[in-house]
Amino acid sequence: MRLPIYMDHAATTPCDPRVVEAMLPYFTEKFGNPGSRNHAFGWEAEEGVETARRQVADLLGADRKEIVFTSGATESNNIAIKGAAYMYARAGAGQSGRGHIISCAIEHKAVLDPCKRLAKEGFEVTFLDPGADGVITRAMVEGAMRPDTILVSLMWANNEIGTINEVPEIGALCHEREVVFHTDATQWAGKMPVDVDADNIDLLSMSGHKIYGPKGVGVLYVRRRKPRVRLQALVDGGGQERNFRSGTLNVTGIVGMGKACEIARAEMDADRERLLKLRKKLEDRVTAALDVVQINGHAEKRLPHLTNISFGFVEGEGLMMACKDIAMSSGSACTSASLEPSYVLKGLGVGDELAHSSLRLSLGRWTTDEEVEFAGAKIIEGVTKLRKLSPLYDMHKEGIDISKIEWAAH
Ligand SMILES: Cc1ncc(COP(=O)(O)O)c(C=O)c1O
Repeated sequence: MRLPIYMDHAATTPCDPRVVEAMLPYFTEKFGNPGSRNHAFGWEAEEGVETARRQVADLLGADRKEIVFTSGATESNNIAIKGAAYMYARAGAGQSGRGHIISCAIEHKAVLDPCKRLAKEGFEVTFLDPGADGVITRAMVEGAMRPDTILVSLMWANNEIGTINEVPEIGALCHEREVVFHTDATQWAGKMPVDVDADNIDLLSMSGHKIYGPKGVGVLYVRRRKPRVRLQALVDGGGQERNFRSGTLNVTGIVGMGKACEIARAEMDADRERLLKLRKKLEDRVTAALDVVQINGHAEKRLPHLTNISFGFVEGEGLMMACKDIAMSSGSACTSASLEPSYVLKGLGVGDELAHSSLRLSLGRWTTDEEVEFAGAKIIEGVTKLRKLSPLYDMHKEGIDISKIEWAAH
């Protein structure tokens, strides 16, 4: 076993060697521009892109023509959200001027920030608060719908806690109300099954580097029929990708994305089952050995390969230091000046202290049983050691309710 072990697959995944192999010829031999329609180099590159388009479409249950290649999920989200808002904006109608949008407070920044920009431009955005379990339900969206709602954008699975929203049900609601439905499926697609028709999705974002493909390539699925979704382009230029995304295609990246989707489709079921067993083993191990431990998010409606655990009575940075042989994420985000507790955990009602002492472990295609054993043992050892230094933990053990203590101010 090589240290440090990698348990941060929700941040990024290694490229599958089969993906790299598929990409290699497109750097040197098949280097043409797919836009070059009048010679063999262009045709060859175009063939690579079109194969990838089919591989992605097959993963999503979509038509090839509905696949738009982008630079990643951030760009896909921007095109989907801003592109739909500008296209379906109402000229002064409704309560909100330009139209009403529904999203959620614990979305990725690549959804929150485009929504916030639209709010500055005269749209009105409702950011739903998830319950303590982190799940957005159809009923919550239904409660927020208005006659002037034009767009709903909700992630399929959360990147920090792995919770799963009621996407097919929310999609059905949107279709009933003739509202465009976008889902950021960056953490879902390629790991869990997608059928854009059965799941009632109009727009879907995904990213290569979360599914064992390369970085800097992504996909936006855009529904073409029942209903045909239209988007206003954000970048003007050569009109590539049906005008949704001008610019010479990243052929190598796209070929890699396609191959990653093909492998995901073939191996998803086996990977899922194996990873769920490993994740459960890790969680069981840690919760059996330690008290004052909380697994964040809904108990069942969670991705099989991801867990987010908070440990009471330990200091967050100390915990990361004690576990430096495990590459994972903490419940703190580094801003320029300070460590901020995760807004996702805060959104669930987790306190600042506990958010800081939270760990996100995300397992992947090559995570082994041995690595899970090792990570479990390291975390238990680290937490136990830190708690030995904690007077508050001693008081807790003596049965004192820490939350009721009135601390003297000096
Ligand atoms: C849910 C979610 N959306 C969007 C992104 C951004 O993806 P990309 O790095 O491809 O721009 C990420 C990656 O962290 C993510 O987890």
